[in-house]
Amino acid sequence: MVTRRGFLQTTGGIAALAAFRDDGIARIEAAALRTAGASPADVAADENYWREIQQAFTLDRTIINLNNGGCCPSPRVVHEALKRYLDISNQSPVYHMWQILEPNIESVRRRLAAAFGCDPEEMAVTRNASEALQIAQLGLDLKAGDEVVTTNQDYGRMLDTWQQRVRRDGIKLTQVSFPVPPESMDVLAERLLAAITPATRVLHFCHITNLTGQIFPVKKIADQARRRGIKTIVDGAHAFAHFPFKASDLECDYYGTSLHKWLLAPIGTGFLYVRKENIPTLWPLTPAAASRADNIRKFEEIGTHPAANHNAIAEALTFHEGIGVERKAARLRYLRNRWADRLGRNPKFRIHTNLDPAHSCAIGNVQTLGVPTGKVVAHLWEKWRIIATPIVHAEYEGLRVTPNVYTTLEEIDTFTAAMEQLAGTA
Ligand SMILES: Cc1ncc(COP(=O)(O)O)c(C=O)c1O
Repeated sequence: MVTRRGFLQTTGGIAALAAFRDDGIARIEAAALRTAGASPADVAADENYWREIQQAFTLDRTIINLNNGGCCPSPRVVHEALKRYLDISNQSPVYHMWQILEPNIESVRRRLAAAFGCDPEEMAVTRNASEALQIAQLGLDLKAGDEVVTTNQDYGRMLDTWQQRVRRDGIKLTQVSFPVPPESMDVLAERLLAAITPATRVLHFCHITNLTGQIFPVKKIADQARRRGIKTIVDGAHAFAHFPFKASDLECDYYGTSLHKWLLAPIGTGFLYVRKENIPTLWPLTPAAASRADNIRKFEEIGTHPAANHNAIAEALTFHEGIGVERKAARLRYLRNRWADRLGRNPKFRIHTNLDPAHSCAIGNVQTLGVPTGKVVAHLWEKWRIIATPIVHAEYEGLRVTPNVYTTLEEIDTFTAAMEQLAGTA
């Protein structure tokens, strides 16, 4: 029998319980106790466990939100922490925000670093993935003729950032194409590595793409790049706290992520990892004193900003650790497979995501053959109040579907039935 003490030891316990305080702790504890020691695959299908997680959010259940790739609602405890810190700040910001709350960003740095698997001195807290990645993209010394290799499925804003350097600094940008879905991870590495020329200084690519949810073999690419003296910027906007990995599984030079996506932290949170040896040579986006040149905090010199957002990241980490990233990823794949397997068997649909767990997790992309994706989106919203994202790329199109830990099976099944009805196969 699993005792309360045993549970606390096996699941990181105190953190797990604290994550759910204020919210039916006894029920959560009972659910967690019941599942202690169970495999992530078993827990993924345990509706009693996930019902408790679903209840930890203050959602509008009259809509079905399958766009968790955009930004996500925070659990109640995280949102309460955000509001509490805002209230504290407003008493006397110069004292309560700057002197009491702001220094505690160091606890957030330490915990983010532990979760990502790097030294806290390599971890900068940012406002989103765009800011994190743009620090790397705009902070590298590149001269006219230097080349950046990326893909034509990288995030629009990050491509715009490189395009601005093309116009401003005369660098060259090469965008490679890759198949959707690819048959193997090797294809992805081969495409990027084959595009390298003697002028290539940077490889920029997603850890997991926002368009189809394709995971890239980051380490394989980064290792090859390092051997050739090329820096790697990895767009991890969708990866952190979505599926398990550590910095040592990547070995890239720079990594930027959003925390208002899969970590469920407040809106306006992200981080930038900079490998220690790269800190002195990377210019911050908002300048910092020369004395801070070697200090990761130079990337956080953004002027006055709310301390509430970044401090509430700590509560989001506690919630996340209370579930455990293995269980979370298993549940997300379970939810994704529930709709994707059914639609994938139907000849009216084409799945653009490789469903192998090594290739993908929560994010899936499905095309309704013969129906423009814009129409699919409109139908889902107007008739069913389902939100999902249209992806129209030069090489393919489809609907991006992203559930989250709070998504119910009923919501997934309603979506699947709505798609079948739209395709005339219900
Ligand atoms: C792949 C990718 N990169 C970067 C970003 C930018 O993230 P943020 O809006 O947090 O700056 C996004 C946002 O959706 C994204 O999908």
